[in-house]
Amino acid sequence: MKSLDVLMPVEGMGLIGDLIGARLPLHRLWLEPNPDLWLAEWGPRIRAIAAAGHVRADEAYMRRFPSLEIISSFGVGYDHIDAKAAARLGIIVTNTPGVLDDEVADTALGLMLMAVRQLPQAERYLRAGNWPNGAYPLTPSLRGRTVGIVGLGRIGKAIATRVSAFGLDVVYHGRNPQAGVGYRYYPSLVEMAKASDILIIVAPGGPSTRHIVNAEVLEALGPDGVLVNIARGSLVDEKALIEALRTGKILAAGLDVYDNEPNVPAELIALPNAVLLPHVGSASVKTRQAMAECVAENILAWADDKPPLTPVPETPWQGRWGKGG
Ligand code: 8YV
Repeated sequence: MKSLDVLMPVEGMGLIGDLIGARLPLHRLWLEPNPDLWLAEWGPRIRAIAAAGHVRADEAYMRRFPSLEIISSFGVGYDHIDAKAAARLGIIVTNTPGVLDDEVADTALGLMLMAVRQLPQAERYLRAGNWPNGAYPLTPSLRGRTVGIVGLGRIGKAIATRVSAFGLDVVYHGRNPQAGVGYRYYPSLVEMAKASDILIIVAPGGPSTRHIVNAEVLEALGPDGVLVNIARGSLVDEKALIEALRTGKILAAGLDVYDNEPNVPAELIALPNAVLLPHVGSASVKTRQAMAECVAENILAWADDKPPLTPVPETPWQGRWGKGG
């Protein structure tokens, strides 16, 4: 094993630091009294970064670490890392795919059910002591609805399987139709929104998908339509969504992600037809442990001169890579 200086810029799950720190020199930046001073001295020695939270890593950030070989990031989404810049600089980026698909898909189905059948509202009704005064009002139904999935990747497919098991039709939109997939493909998101009653957003964040769910898409979804977002807040024009929910342009929304987390707009919180979760899609003990292990294993494999386990497509392992190859 190479002796590799590893930096954890922010505190994440303790397990990540425990696994890496047991085998490699690990530097916990948040414990340093003067992080900038520390970085000026130690930055050139750092060869691996364990990004336990959403550390914004653009080109300028990466250039602070001239010996950097690998960034191992916690989470499947890595829109906070400029992976193309990493590729140019010869830095491998890894994420944690696969281990969270089912957990996030479960959360998406939960949000869909909650938003359509108003389950949180019904529960609040009971807790407020209203039941003896009358039954909770009848709600909309999932029955007979078509679900449009935006982004049919691993998690999108896990959602589609569950939605099909619920007896609902599935259609999808993405950059390209996928071979061997039986669900109907829509090249246009607006057209798919017109044909769907529920839109589930599960595509990656980043500049190319920013605000793809805009006023036009919401209008196309229509007054019985429901939006579920478990991907990134950046995919949805939040102002347009608030307006659509407020004016009844769509029926309801179930959201796990927001534009400026952890700050959720007061207008959204005030809306009775929005079910709001605090980005808990993958947040079970079991799944977060698996994600933490994946972050550590990528760095430990690298230190052992083995290929990274889960490089992102922008920095593919081809038997050799940049400065570490
Ligand atoms: C994580 C996520 O909670 O994997 C992702 O992309 O959004 C979540 O599962 C998040 O990345 C943790 O910071």
